[in-house]
Amino acid sequence: MKKILLTALLPFFLLANENDELKAGQKVFDNTCSACHVEILDKKTALKTFKTLKAPPMNEVAMQLKSNIIIKDDDDDVHRAVVIAFIKDYIKYPKLAKTMCNPGAVDRFGVMPSQKSQLNDEQINAVSIWIYDRYEGVEF
Ligand code: HEC
Repeated sequence: MKKILLTALLPFFLLANENDELKAGQKVFDNTCSACHVEILDKKTALKTFKTLKAPPMNEVAMQLKSNIIIKDDDDDVHRAVVIAFIKDYIKYPKLAKTMCNPGAVDRFGVMPSQKSQLNDEQINAVSIWIYDRYEGVEF
């Protein structure tokens, strides 16, 4: 009986964990990244806010990285892991040679300053996962 209950509840625990992880990532975004990146820029608000942007919007960053990083055997888990690893590295060690932003964006905004001194590894991990998962299946 206990075993059945546990098995039945497991998906809820997993889901709760996932949500906590996303919340932790959102918090890092709100506290640190949102100084420069807006979370979502949809077509409607794009025209209004475009001039005031300090960095590419996060939804575009996520889309750009996901489409530029290609895994040969098309394995979604590997793709997710590689994109998240890229983001984790970029937060600490951004560099012109590494950026996958389009050249126009780099010309306009410059290269991102390292966020290494602002965040610990746990926060960097959480926000990197958040960037990948936050925009999955979201239409703009
Ligand atoms: C002081 C402004 C500033 C802050 C704060 C900032 N960024 Fe950026 N970020 C930029 C700019 C400008 C770019 C575009 C140029 C580049 O790729 O370096 C960028 C680009 C990126 C990219 C895309 C790299 C690529 O290759 O396409 C990622 C990922 C990113 N930022 C994540 C973050 C995260 C996560 C945070 C918060 C922890 C953050 N940024 C905070 C300015 C900022």
